Amino acid sequence: MKRLLITLLAAFALLPALAQDDVESRVEELIFRMTLDDKIGQLHQIDGRTDLGKVCDMIRKGQISSIMNIVDAAVIDSLQRIALEESPAGIPILFSRDIVHGFKTILPIPLGQAASFDDALIRSAARNTALEATEIGIKWAFAPMMDIARDPRWGRIAEGFGEDPYLASRLAVSVVEGYQGEDLSDELSMAACAKHFVAYGAAEGGRDYNTTYVPLRSLYDTYFPPFKACVDAGVASFMSSFNDNDGVPATGNKWLLSEVLREDWGFQGMVVSDWGSVGGLIPHGVAGDKKEAAKICLEAGCDMDMMSYSYLNHLKELIAEGSVSMQTLDEAVRRVLRLKVRLGLLEKPYTRKASESVIYSEAVLETACRLAEESSVLLKNDGVLPIAEEVKTVLVCGPMADAAYDQLGTWALDGDKTHTITPIAAIRRELPSDVKLIYANPLSYPRAQSSDDFKALKKAARKADVIIAFVGEEQMMSGEAHSLSNLHLQGQQSEMLEALASCGKPLVTVIMAGRPLVIGSELELSNAVLYMWHPGTMGGQAAYNLLWGLSNPSGKLPVTFPRNEGQIPIYYNHKHTSHIAKGTEGNLDSVPREKPQSVMGHTSSYLDVAPTPLLPFGFGLSYTTFELSNLRVDNPVISDSEAVVFYVDVKNTGDREGCEVVQAYVGRKTASTTRPMKELKAYERVSLKAGESKTLRLEIPAESLAFCRKDMSWGTEPGNYVLTVGTSSEGGLRSYFKLEK
Ligand code: NOJ
Repeated sequence: MKRLLITLLAAFALLPALAQDDVESRVEELIFRMTLDDKIGQLHQIDGRTDLGKVCDMIRKGQISSIMNIVDAAVIDSLQRIALEESPAGIPILFSRDIVHGFKTILPIPLGQAASFDDALIRSAARNTALEATEIGIKWAFAPMMDIARDPRWGRIAEGFGEDPYLASRLAVSVVEGYQGEDLSDELSMAACAKHFVAYGAAEGGRDYNTTYVPLRSLYDTYFPPFKACVDAGVASFMSSFNDNDGVPATGNKWLLSEVLREDWGFQGMVVSDWGSVGGLIPHGVAGDKKEAAKICLEAGCDMDMMSYSYLNHLKELIAEGSVSMQTLDEAVRRVLRLKVRLGLLEKPYTRKASESVIYSEAVLETACRLAEESSVLLKNDGVLPIAEEVKTVLVCGPMADAAYDQLGTWALDGDKTHTITPIAAIRRELPSDVKLIYANPLSYPRAQSSDDFKALKKAARKADVIIAFVGEEQMMSGEAHSLSNLHLQGQQSEMLEALASCGKPLVTVIMAGRPLVIGSELELSNAVLYMWHPGTMGGQAAYNLLWGLSNPSGKLPVTFPRNEGQIPIYYNHKHTSHIAKGTEGNLDSVPREKPQSVMGHTSSYLDVAPTPLLPFGFGLSYTTFELSNLRVDNPVISDSEAVVFYVDVKNTGDREGCEVVQAYVGRKTASTTRPMKELKAYERVSLKAGESKTLRLEIPAESLAFCRKDMSWGTEPGNYVLTVGTSSEGGLRSYFKLEK
């Protein structure tokens, strides 16, 4: 049979991109010849970071469908050869990896990328990532991660696109398009994986892996949209999440994986479990052993078991007993094979031979640098930035000024820190020769506790015209299983900033972090603050370009910044409530002793902190200024099949070129359910020269106003809508339109 398959593979090699019918007939050809053991093996994924001899034996027995975490092309090809030539069914292995924000060239963390609001740039950076990864044989990436996250304590907030379903949907689709390209069978393409399905970002208390309780309505309104958008964009695979939502672990949730994903949304691709999450049903307490877990998860619609060995070790018995049907097994196998066929693995199972390597190539680095620039958000600037020509002595300090590893952020598995451009490296290389650089690093890393060198630091600061302090979080402070309850700067960093601020010299604070931190006092004592997230390989170059005005900041916050941890969760698109806060609450000193409660006004607020955020979603400054005017709705009455079209004039009112992100929000006064006060429904980046104006045409299709109505049906409701167009989620120009049925 093996020889027959090799002949078949050779014949397929001559074929161009595959039509759906071809895919199906190839899958059927394969499945027809497979034994039960071959089939079960196709549902098993392992970690390759183990005894390779053992892996080879398993491949020879046909027990491995996909291997994660091998990133050596020669090893990949040698294992592939064993699969093709020595395994019973000769089916190629699918090599996979967590390629979440760049492969070798590390891009800003996804949360940072989201601040760019630049779909096209994200798409092309993701394409570069696919080029780098396929060069060494990776054909399946576990990304994009699109979990809506409204809790910055959760370490994995770094991996997604923030708090807003619309922004996350658009950007997740950009990554899918970049990874998968126009054609999945293109040698340069790799399969994307929409993860983690679903509600994983709503972990109670922000503690990773914790239980979630997101009711059906919020699933539809808030957590599903990015996943649905990726299905519509043709994402090849899904990953189920670790969490149980409302009592049902996602990996064993038939309603979720079969009814919603496949029946309602029409997803044709493959679902993989998260690491061990099939077996995870046991600690969740809904399966007694792995056999039971295998049955529940396979029947729920989870096709591939990542690392729990439940399918490999128990499906045969379950089939023999008749407690899992052959049909259920075959369907899962078909979905796995379909992906392999669509990827062109049957024709070209081996690593492509790149004529010229793109890894760390100039073009790839340049895109990464642009993305790091566009991801950076200017939070404050009293005019000290960009650094003026008159500045002749600069003090650069802080633990993130030369943190080659840390600035790469979480999931930088393959990023080689020797390629990282740190801020100090870029500044040393680029600084004009007539500017004196003093570099001091009193804190060896962000958590360092010693303030011994602060005295010397202050002495140096007094000699400088400008101080630039790079602070933030180590790579280890965010990401999977790295949640925090205290979101202030770690170690002595705040004290260092205080010491610097006391020197009477302009202080520029640059923050590199995996999440929004609580930075109210740092914002106050700095003259300027630039938030760069973890900006990746080119972060230092991007910092130099921005600080010295070679490029102009344009990033906008993809997530709300809280004043303190007690405000969490806080997000802009919260609902109308019956006791809306006035915004002036939160002054503990004004709370009287022994007065009737009504003095406080009965609003939804805290006594000790304002109900408003420190910085709102969508906020971000530039070195220039912009003015929006003349918002006009072209068709103020629309039907369900139309889009509301509107125009707005944007003017660059400053004296340098810059880019603004114009954001359009929609809200309603009344609906059949309570609704968010406003929701982002359109945005556009616009680049303008000094003094230049442009008229933007934006549109919002009526269907994007659909929501989970009172009767739980999905659709729009007729009525009046408020349109707000601005440069953040606060303020802006207002207009109205009406949806008629
Ligand atoms: C667990 C993580 O939750 C998931 O995102 C990742 O893709 C897998 N491990 C594989 O490494």
